Amino acid sequence: MDWSAWRDEFPTFRRTTYLNTCSLAPLSRRVRAAQEQFFDEWEALGASAWYERWTSALHDLREKVARVLGARSEEIALAPNVSVAVSSVASAVDYRTRPRVVMSEIDFPTLAYQWAVKPEAAPVLVASEGRVTVRPEVFEQAVDDRTSIVATSHVYYTSGAIQDIARVAQIAHRHGALALVDAYQATGQLPTDVKTADVDVLVTGGLKWLLGGTGVAFLYVRKALIPNLSPTIAGWFGNARMFDFDPKAFAFHDTARRFELGTPSLAAVFAASAGIDIVLEIGVDRLRQRTTELTSDLIERLIAAGFAVRTPSSPEHRAGIVMIELKDPAKTVKALAGRKFIVDYRHDRLRLSPYFYNTAEDNERFVDALSGITRRLT
Ligand SMILES: Cc1ncc(COP(=O)(O)O)c(C=O)c1O
Repeated sequence: MDWSAWRDEFPTFRRTTYLNTCSLAPLSRRVRAAQEQFFDEWEALGASAWYERWTSALHDLREKVARVLGARSEEIALAPNVSVAVSSVASAVDYRTRPRVVMSEIDFPTLAYQWAVKPEAAPVLVASEGRVTVRPEVFEQAVDDRTSIVATSHVYYTSGAIQDIARVAQIAHRHGALALVDAYQATGQLPTDVKTADVDVLVTGGLKWLLGGTGVAFLYVRKALIPNLSPTIAGWFGNARMFDFDPKAFAFHDTARRFELGTPSLAAVFAASAGIDIVLEIGVDRLRQRTTELTSDLIERLIAAGFAVRTPSSPEHRAGIVMIELKDPAKTVKALAGRKFIVDYRHDRLRLSPYFYNTAEDNERFVDALSGITRRLT
C-alpha cells in the first residue's frame, strides 16, 4: 500500500499536521466530489432525484455499513446522530421490572444522558481504572436480573482502550439484558463483527474513522430482536406503508427501518458513502495494522521525551487514540494550533489520533513541537 498517495487525497495535509481523526476526519477530495454530485443532481433533477437517485443512495449506504460491521443491510437504520439512534432503541425498552442500565463513567456521556432523563430508569455508572479502561469483572458485579441494558463503548474516547464487547455481551445476556455498544471510536479503524461479538445493538457514526462528514449515524439491531422492539418515538420513515399517508395506520417495518424517523440529510448521506468507500477500498484489517504501527511509534516517542501517556501499554488493547496527561491541555492545543498541529483534549489530557494518512515524520515533528511548547508553558 502506497500510503503517501492517500495523503494527497486529503488536502489539509498541505497546510497542517492533522492528528485529530477521532474528533473529525479531515475532508477528502472524494467526499468533496460526492457533495458536488449531490448538488448537481439536486439542481438537475429536483424532487425526482428522490426516485432516480436518493432512495438508492440510502439503500447503498445501509449496505456499506452492514459490510463494515458484518451485519445484513436490513439490520441497519440511518439516524442523524448517535444520540437519536440510542433514543429510538431506548424508547422501546420496558424499564418497569428492569430499571437498571449499566454503563461506565468513561463512556461518551450522550449514553448516560439518555437514561438520566428517564425517571423510570436507574442508570448505573461503573468506575474505571484511571479513566483508561474498565475490567469486565466490574461490569459483571454491576449487572443483575433487574438490568435491561448494558451500554458501553467498543473503544473508549477518553483513552483509546479497546473493550472486549463479546465479553460484555455475554455478561448482559447471562442476566437477560441487552448489550448496546457505542462503536463510534471503533468503526473503520478496528475490525468489528457484530455476529461474532453477539451484541444486540450497535451505534456508530460517519464523521470520524469512516471519513464522512456530520449529519449521519448508523444503528445496528440484531435481526431476531427487531420484532420485539417497538420504539415509542416515531415518524413516517419508520412506517412500513409510509406512502399510504394514512394518519390512522402505523405499521412498523419488520427491518431496522422501524427505528428511522424522518427525512434524512441527503448531503450527509453522500458524504458518508464516499468516506466509507475509502475505508472499504483499503480494508479495515489494513487500516488497523497501519494505525497500530503509527500509534506504537507515537507512544514510543512520547515516552522517550518524558510525557505521561494514559493509553493502554499493549498494542492489542489500544486503538488509534493516544492520551497525554498535561497541566494545561487547552492552552497546549491552542499553542499547537498556532504551529499548524491539529489535536484536541478531553479533561486533563491531550488527545491525538493518528490514522493511515499520517506518517512517522508527523509523529516526530509533533513530539518536537509538544516538547518545545510544554517547556515554555511550565
Ligand atoms: C464514542 C462517541 N459516541 C458518541 C459521540 C457523539 O454522538 P452524536 O452522534 O450523538 O453526536 C462521540 C463523539 O462525538 C463519541 O466519541
